[in-house]
Amino acid sequence: MVDTTPVFHDAVGAIRPDALDSLPAQFFVTGTDTGVGKTTVTVALMRALVATGRRVVAMKPIASGCEWIDGVWQNEDVAKLVAASNVAAPLSLINPYRFDPPIAPHIAAEQAGVNISLAVIAQAYLALKALADVVIVEGAGGLLVPVNTQHTLADLIATLQCPTLLVVGMRLGCINHALLTAEVLRQRQLALCGWVANHVDPAMAAAEENLTTLSHWLGQPPLMRLPYCAA
Ligand SMILES: Nc1ncnc2c1ncn2[C@@H]1O[C@H](COP(=O)(O)OP(=O)(O)OP(=O)(O)O)[C@@H](O)[C@H]1O
Ligand SMILES: [Mg+2]
Repeated sequence: MVDTTPVFHDAVGAIRPDALDSLPAQFFVTGTDTGVGKTTVTVALMRALVATGRRVVAMKPIASGCEWIDGVWQNEDVAKLVAASNVAAPLSLINPYRFDPPIAPHIAAEQAGVNISLAVIAQAYLALKALADVVIVEGAGGLLVPVNTQHTLADLIATLQCPTLLVVGMRLGCINHALLTAEVLRQRQLALCGWVANHVDPAMAAAEENLTTLSHWLGQPPLMRLPYCAA
């Protein structure tokens, strides 16, 4: 049998055009956890979309953690998303909230005396929509990360009214995390526009069986598979 699953061969190229064309013009990228490859996948998609001639921008509405990059303090994710974009957009739109400590966003915000507002993020998102053909919004951590005392990232997705792409970090425990995420999206009537199998653990046992299980329970094969790419 011919495997028609779209395969994403490496971090910079070879995303099947049909996988790319099936993506909506705006979508939110969440993950099964922090560090599962949301930025890696977003950047790869951005490069592939830019190569087709689309105007592509990504936003990281809430970033915590800063590093010394090119002589200035920057958030690493934001720097990567900006570098992959072909749209000149103000940093205040791409990243409305940035905090220095690499801790949970709502705690970082509280420590900084800032109340994260979904309306502020929505306004920036709408402004980016006017500048680009494709807007990708990268979350922070997973779907139910709080942004303040009332809201989580799921509420932000509901506010932005865009579908969600789920990056599954293929490692032990990912099935439960992926299904919990899909379940919450379903309960809130938020659309899942696809999922990506990101092989972050080259030694994962029964990886193919996990992939088959995820495809069954998520009701669709992965839009892309990203193999482990040694640094
Ligand atoms: N397929 C892969 N192969 C090898 N390393 C990977 C792969 N995907 C991601 N990584 C590495 O894993 C780390 C975390 O990836 P990434 O920053 O994309 O995760 P994230 O989900 O965006 O994290 P955060 O929650 O902090 O935003 C990075 O060092 C990245 O290079
Ligand atoms: Mg990231």
